[in-house]
Amino acid sequence: MSITLPNNSIMLKPDFTFGVATASFQIEGANTEDGRLPCIWDTFCATPGKVLNGDDGSVACDHYHLWKEDVQLIKSLGVDAYRLSIAWPRVMDEQGEPNKKGLLFYRNLIKELKANGIKVFATLYHWDLPQHLEDKGGWLNRETAYRYAEYANLITNELGQWVDSWATFNEPFCAALLGYEVGVHAPGLAKPEYGRQAAHHILLAHGLALPAIRANSPTADVGIVLNMNRTYAASDKSEDQFAALIRETLDNQFFIEPLLKAQYPKLLNKVLPHYLPTILPGDMEIIARPIDFMGMNFYTCNHNEYDEENLYREVKKENVEYTDIGWEIAPQAFSELLINLNEQYDLPPMYITENGAACADTIEAGKVDDDQRVRYLQGHINAVNDAINVGVDIRGYFAWSLMDNFEWAEGYSKRFGLTYVDYETQERTIKRSGYAYRDLLLSRQK
Ligand code: NOJ
Repeated sequence: MSITLPNNSIMLKPDFTFGVATASFQIEGANTEDGRLPCIWDTFCATPGKVLNGDDGSVACDHYHLWKEDVQLIKSLGVDAYRLSIAWPRVMDEQGEPNKKGLLFYRNLIKELKANGIKVFATLYHWDLPQHLEDKGGWLNRETAYRYAEYANLITNELGQWVDSWATFNEPFCAALLGYEVGVHAPGLAKPEYGRQAAHHILLAHGLALPAIRANSPTADVGIVLNMNRTYAASDKSEDQFAALIRETLDNQFFIEPLLKAQYPKLLNKVLPHYLPTILPGDMEIIARPIDFMGMNFYTCNHNEYDEENLYREVKKENVEYTDIGWEIAPQAFSELLINLNEQYDLPPMYITENGAACADTIEAGKVDDDQRVRYLQGHINAVNDAINVGVDIRGYFAWSLMDNFEWAEGYSKRFGLTYVDYETQERTIKRSGYAYRDLLLSRQK
């Protein structure tokens, strides 16, 4: 089984970027080393019952020590680029002074990637907020947005010359809503009015940071990464259609519209007025400062019916295939979503910054036969190609993930890697999907 694209696909041309992605907390480990401060995920993991099996990020994939070998692993997959994230608690102390050792780790890593011909796509925030900022209110406190802008200034000043692309945030939806409204992610707060306020401060932080990032790293692209779902109505009934519209507006449009149109979706004023955040004069203009790209993380779709209390309720479809994390495999939804968004908005260039599958992988005789993941990638990479063919400007695709890692509230129980990680020995074994991805990439004429 292999991953193929039509011979004439634009994705096979030299200027389309293929990569793999990871995030700091999910792979680094070494959470108390070299002056790294505690972050909200350390605290969350240490709270009984929050993370499956009591797993934490103290060792993870030990990437903090194995980074050099990991760069060779990345290179062996034949990718053009690597998407990583920088851990704020590793690089800045409580007074806002740089942590030299933490910075050196990223400088060494990034220079090693560049020396091996791999482009660097860096994300400034992939959920590891320093705990001392959470103690002052975290993303519910407007001040955090200003602290973030200082952090972004420091990092891009230090690393700006080597980085090809900066994303200010990864998935503000998850950081804000799962963290402050639903409470299944750190910091684990759960109040209906918290989620959108946290989201607004994150979006504000994004906009506040842009001028410094551009000044410090003038040759790099700057953008933001959003998670997006294709949302379907469970039936043709008008109330279910309405439920799907609400769900999509809350998940997708709530983030896209402020960034591209300096407004929150008008529909929310009508149906969910209590959901709207406090917005100060000038905020929306800051949030909508121009970006060079928008990153999209896509995994699955959802089906919704009307619910009197919550307006929508997700229902599971029968006779479809699910991955090990219970997410429907729906490549068609991926191309539809991209095409729909392209019709609705004047989109900046798009990058697929994450896409992948959790599979119940096992290693036998040194081999991992993850056929489901190969099929998933085949379907989804071709869905990107379909969207490009009808005119969506997509410049790159990153598989999630380079290797198995800490899957947040699921701990180490869910494996998303193209590479299998034995957490006892830290041995990495490229899975069948990793080889299939490499073979697709090597088939390109560069
Ligand atoms: C999106 C997140 O950015 C990433 O951290 C996570 O592991 C994947 N989705 C899979 O859930």
